[in-house]
Amino acid sequence: MRVLVTGGAGFIGSHIVEALEGRGHEPVVYDTMLPSGQGGATRLTDERRRFVADVRDRDTVAKALRGVDAVCHQAAMVGLGKDFADAPRYVGCNDLGTAVLLAGMAEAGVRDLVLAGSMVVYGEGRYDCPRHGRTRPGPRAVADLEAGRFEPRCPSCGAGLTPGLVTEDAPADPRNVYAVTKLTQEHLASAWARATGGRALSLRYHNVYGPGMPRDTPYAGVASFFRSALARGEAPRVFEDGDQRRDFVHVRDVAAANAVALEAVRDRPSEDFAAYNTGSGEPRTVGQMAEALAAAHGGPSPVVTGEFRLGDVRHVTADSRRLREELGWRPEVGFAEGMAEFATAPLRSGRAPQAAALAGS
Ligand SMILES: NC(=O)c1ccc[n+]([C@@H]2O[C@H](COP(=O)([O-])OP(=O)(O)OC[C@H]3O[C@@H](n4cnc5c(N)ncnc54)[C@H](O)[C@@H]3O)[C@@H](O)[C@H]2O)c1
Ligand SMILES: [Zn+2]
Repeated sequence: MRVLVTGGAGFIGSHIVEALEGRGHEPVVYDTMLPSGQGGATRLTDERRRFVADVRDRDTVAKALRGVDAVCHQAAMVGLGKDFADAPRYVGCNDLGTAVLLAGMAEAGVRDLVLAGSMVVYGEGRYDCPRHGRTRPGPRAVADLEAGRFEPRCPSCGAGLTPGLVTEDAPADPRNVYAVTKLTQEHLASAWARATGGRALSLRYHNVYGPGMPRDTPYAGVASFFRSALARGEAPRVFEDGDQRRDFVHVRDVAAANAVALEAVRDRPSEDFAAYNTGSGEPRTVGQMAEALAAAHGGPSPVVTGEFRLGDVRHVTADSRRLREELGWRPEVGFAEGMAEFATAPLRSGRAPQAAALAGS
């Protein structure tokens, strides 16, 4: 199968390229090839399988789609960004970019799409109140965070809540611009599928980590911050009280999930859109992650700072059973093993993708 991998030079995309080659497929990389990611690009020496362009460039998208069986859409501007002034760049890159790509696919008759989704579409995870059952707390108040009250409370009675696993049918609640763009990508993919008879699967990744992760920039994930601090000989600084729960999923498992989804999508009914949580199924706290990394790196030990970032959610952990049951995917890299590898794995130098684009590279 010939697969166009947008963002194929990025952190996750370059692992997808490798996974597809390993399964006998023919990946074609489409990426701006910004300094933040070079992995997938340098591996593909054949010029016909490498397009250095923006996904908003219609003509190059049309060229790249020739002879392609399916598209794996990873290209996006990631992370929280610095402030709201980044909004037009996120929306342009992620949503206009997706629209141009989908229009090109409609034109070229390419009907199969796998999209890089994200758990950020859910906002705060799932919680249960002892009195009110399933509940959805709103954003946490600054006053609470400043006072070190990090746990969200029941909006009806103020009781403490028990976090649970988020399933795909949970309502969307995107709480920052990036999250909005990831949700919009799904809506666009779904509209495209209905309009063209296409089939689209969105893999809602949890916190992806592993070799080749970008170094700490405002756009990177928490595992990268900790890993970068350790590389500088500094203690990882753990925000809040360290008990925030996440699901850390290894990048090779995410790449395998993409390969499995690409192989499955063509057998779906036309006009189909479905989302799959993509997590390890082993929730951990951010504090545990910092401890595991620091231990494997040989120190220094993490410090819990009580700082917080507005817009961060307290707990969000995926229920990834659907992906296992329906597509037969199994994560293979356990938490301890993955963190031990990541503690010494190379990172890539991170310049914010769009900043680099504006700099003209
Ligand atoms: N890393 C995570 O934990 C995580 C979690 C959830 C979802 N995701 C999603 O996974 C996908 C890949 O993320 P990543 O972590 O590998 O990030 P990354 O920045 O390493 O990779 C993104 C790649 O896309 C390219 N790109 C960006 N905008 C482009 C454009 N307009 N045209 C062409 N190429 C462009 C960049 O050059 C880069 O190589 C993204 O869609 C992201 O939203 C990532
Ligand atoms: Zn209650």
